[in-house]
Amino acid sequence: MKISVCAKGGSGKSTIVTLLANEARNRGSRVLIVDSDESNSGLYRMLGFEQPPIPLMELIGGKASLKKIMGKPDIFAADKIPVDDIPPGYLLKNGNTMLVSIGKILQSLEGCACPMGVLSREFLKKVVVNDGEVVIIDMEAGVEHFGRGVETSIDNVLIVVEPPWESMEVAAKIHGMSSGSGIKNTWAVLNKIPNEEMRQRLEAELDKRGIKVIGCVYLDQEIFMASVDGRVPKQGAAANEIKGVMNFILAKTGETRAN
Ligand SMILES: Nc1ncnc2c1ncn2[C@@H]1O[C@H](COP(=O)(O)OP(=O)(O)OP(=O)(O)O)[C@@H](O)[C@H]1O
Ligand SMILES: [Mg+2]
Repeated sequence: MKISVCAKGGSGKSTIVTLLANEARNRGSRVLIVDSDESNSGLYRMLGFEQPPIPLMELIGGKASLKKIMGKPDIFAADKIPVDDIPPGYLLKNGNTMLVSIGKILQSLEGCACPMGVLSREFLKKVVVNDGEVVIIDMEAGVEHFGRGVETSIDNVLIVVEPPWESMEVAAKIHGMSSGSGIKNTWAVLNKIPNEEMRQRLEAELDKRGIKVIGCVYLDQEIFMASVDGRVPKQGAAANEIKGVMNFILAKTGETRAN
């Protein structure tokens, strides 16, 4: 099962990815987290890794090299990429939690992120997902990844929505593009919600836009402080909310475990 977590910048994608990954791991699943955000690099710390993985982009000779072969359909030599074939350093493991990163823009004037989009798409298409495994993608902010076809092999899209109005506008765009690309399982998870009244208000607004809300994570001091400290957030109320989200996704995909 592949779940892509999308949203406006700063709304909580990496946080929701971390909560989902912890939940899947607690259920006994092997979890591969794919960091597909070319700008931000804090995810590895939230997940408890000491350093980031070497980007997969380096495995194929870097961005310049990929640019040269971008027009060709087959970027990786093999049709399938079993997770365990990814070399150490590029694939980080912590028990059943694994992390890869597509690539990061590190320098000014480096050029656009298109090659990373191509690599994300190809990697997600080719990575082998076995029974008992779940792949969770921390997508770049906004909607450009849909234009690059990154979602072609994704079966579930979760849109993170926080209170500001623009978050809802981006959610509506993501929902349209995701549904338009044939992904039926496109839902929203509310995040940074201060109270029940706000929850109901956002649910109603999203309902008007044809978007179903399947979970709500409230404003949470521990989550915020963990990001200030650059550490793993302690399990709390948010983890319970995410249980419901995972149950919903599993029920919809007709599977009994997070795989
Ligand atoms: N439920 C929450 N309660 C309090 N703070 C939160 C919550 N969710 C996220 N945050 C905080 O909001 C900030 C942004 O969260 P996060 O990094 O998960 O967002 P993002 O969408 O991945 O951002 P980016 O687009 O920059 O990658 C962080 O400081 C995080 O701790
Ligand atoms: Mg992030």
